[in-house]
Amino acid sequence: MTFPIERPRRLRRTETLRSMVRETTLSPKNFVLPLFAVPGKGVRKEVGSMPGVFQLSVDELVKEAKLAHKHSVPSVILFGLPEHKDPLGSGGWDAQGPVAQAVRALKDAVPELCVITDVCMCEYTDHGHCGKLVKRRGQTEVDNDATLELLAREALCHAQAGADIVAPSDMMDGRIAKLRQTLDGDGFQDVAILSYAAKYASGFYGPFREAADSAPQEGDRRGYQMDPANSREALREVHLDIAEGADMVMVKPALSYLDVIAKVRAEVNVPVSAYNVSGEYAMVKAAAKNGWIDEQRVMLELLLSIKRAGADIILTYHAIDAARALGA
Ligand code: PBG
Repeated sequence: MTFPIERPRRLRRTETLRSMVRETTLSPKNFVLPLFAVPGKGVRKEVGSMPGVFQLSVDELVKEAKLAHKHSVPSVILFGLPEHKDPLGSGGWDAQGPVAQAVRALKDAVPELCVITDVCMCEYTDHGHCGKLVKRRGQTEVDNDATLELLAREALCHAQAGADIVAPSDMMDGRIAKLRQTLDGDGFQDVAILSYAAKYASGFYGPFREAADSAPQEGDRRGYQMDPANSREALREVHLDIAEGADMVMVKPALSYLDVIAKVRAEVNVPVSAYNVSGEYAMVKAAAKNGWIDEQRVMLELLLSIKRAGADIILTYHAIDAARALGA
């Protein structure tokens, strides 16, 4: 070669050079660890399809959260399995239920931990749908406006227990406005709302439904969660939720929706989060168990891709492992 050519490799020659020009950095500060609260004491039951993830009674959940905090993970998001399920999901607003108890215990044990609660009915209803069912035109569907009342009761219960952030994952229309109004009306102006704004009807939630025992008994969630084929609609959902008062928005799942994360990031100025969901986690674990991939390397590469796409915050079951791998 006699003429000067472009040589990007010059800046890849040593780790010092590579790290000087690195565009994206992962930090444990970006992570939120999901935890599953169950009734009882001393319960630590591994979820079959999610190795390393457990259903935890409140005492064990506090231990897990302390471990996360020790590794610089600033936040957890709580899901709950009630003692009893019923058609309305009344366990969702039980002040003695596992989530409310876990919030109080966490605030007591690790006050600086940011406690987020998932607000949805599917863990609490006996039919497994995310709200109150109604029959219309001979079809069973989730009644949007009746469900808003139930979600408001649940969010208020979590706020009263001391949650910092409530995160509605039901995908009903108008829920953000309803929750904001309810929280403000009860003096919880400082409780933030993280909206699962662009939540897709995804096959990647399979293992979660085992963990949270929340699979719909009949039908599916396509009547309320988004069609995987749509991304303009995601922007519409995000804009609506921000207009209604969402402090942060989420794209879920993360990995098959990196384009959506990037679009949302370019469009709004609130923090953007992404949920690296159960099926995404399970695939990494299964392939690693077979010796087909290097688990740590793939985990960090996937999390980095979510950050690079534009997510500020990543909800991930890998949170503690990833924080450890990052040296925290
Ligand atoms: C509740 C909810 C789900 C998830 C988070 N909140 C399941 C669903 O919508 O069926 C999935 C999380 C995961 O897969 O890790 N609506």
